[in-house]
Amino acid sequence: MLSFSGNKTAVGLSIGSSSIKLVELKKTSKGWKLLHFGIIQLPDDTIVNREIVNHLSVVESIKTLIGQIKLGTQQVCTSLSGTAVIVRRMNLEVPNIKDLQDQVFWEAEQYIPFDITEVVMDYQVLSKTKDNRFDVLLVAVKKSVLEHFSGSVLDAGLKPKVIDVDFFALQNLYEATYPAQPSEAVAIVDIGASATKMVVVHAGVPAFTKDSAIGGRNLTTEIQKHLNLSFVDAEALKVGSGGSDFPQEVSDLMNIMNDNLANEIKRGLDFYSAASSGAPVSYILLAGGSAKIPQLSKVVEEATGLPTQIMNPFNSISYDPSVFTQEYVSAIAPMAAVPMGLALRMGQP
Ligand SMILES: Nc1ncnc2c1ncn2[C@@H]1O[C@H](COP(=O)(O)OP(=O)(O)OP(=O)(O)O)[C@@H](O)[C@H]1O
Ligand SMILES: [Mg+2]
Repeated sequence: MLSFSGNKTAVGLSIGSSSIKLVELKKTSKGWKLLHFGIIQLPDDTIVNREIVNHLSVVESIKTLIGQIKLGTQQVCTSLSGTAVIVRRMNLEVPNIKDLQDQVFWEAEQYIPFDITEVVMDYQVLSKTKDNRFDVLLVAVKKSVLEHFSGSVLDAGLKPKVIDVDFFALQNLYEATYPAQPSEAVAIVDIGASATKMVVVHAGVPAFTKDSAIGGRNLTTEIQKHLNLSFVDAEALKVGSGGSDFPQEVSDLMNIMNDNLANEIKRGLDFYSAASSGAPVSYILLAGGSAKIPQLSKVVEEATGLPTQIMNPFNSISYDPSVFTQEYVSAIAPMAAVPMGLALRMGQP
């Protein structure tokens, strides 16, 4: 188990497909305080299909980030996502608890699309009934992917103390910083550059997870094609204006993207309600850089009929206003969700 001593800081490191984000928090008598936030864009083709293909480039990028920040610890919590990560709820009848692990791993094989010798598995018992039925959360990760991620962190001079999963980082952030009602389920959706990750949290449990290969990169590529620009120029145009003064074609493409994302979220919610007897979702929190696409919250709200807002990871986090302006903090908020969830995880006893 991880021990966290009070004078250390808690560091979350998220290796995304477009950028690496790092958050450092310090525990104070009044709660968590933001010490550092760093973000560095990754060169193209560093992460392809959510796997690290250019190890050196990830290592150098992490080194550049930590070269700018004097971290109080080398220990970090980082995370994985993508098709190499499998998260599954399982319900098993196991008469003898000492057989639980064998039973979980044996049943797991049917859910894992890789050779079982190529994965690392772990599980958590969520609940148990009197008649020896166990509700279990299984997590399986492809060994090679895990090794690539932890190897990059190690080679950059950091120690990956905890390797988590993006879904759980989002859940953790929500539970640590939002006032959760036990009766309500909440959908948290992280829309990054290459993926949309959705987790429905209910009663402290990730009741449903869904990972879709749709993200901000799709929108940039569309802008690039339609306006005949380079990827870099299309990206700059997309994130640059920040207001309503986009060329009409760009606004149109954003509307299409928003509709696609809203439909994807709606499909996820439909799956959740069909597959579970859990509480209905009462609201949606959007995170990830692509949550900043203008009008997205409104479009999601219309498509799902649920109140939708952009998640604020700094909800209950203090910071020095002479270091971070309010404007800066709101600008980084969506991208900071996963690394904040990881840092808070690191800081848990
Ligand atoms: N103002 C903005 N408007 C629209 N999109 C934006 C804006 N700012 C950032 N983005 C988009 O957000 C994406 C990056 O978000 P984020 O950092 O959460 O992704 P990532 O973690 O690198 O990717 P992933 O989680 O998919 O691996 C990029 O596609 C970027 O274009
Ligand atoms: Mg991400």
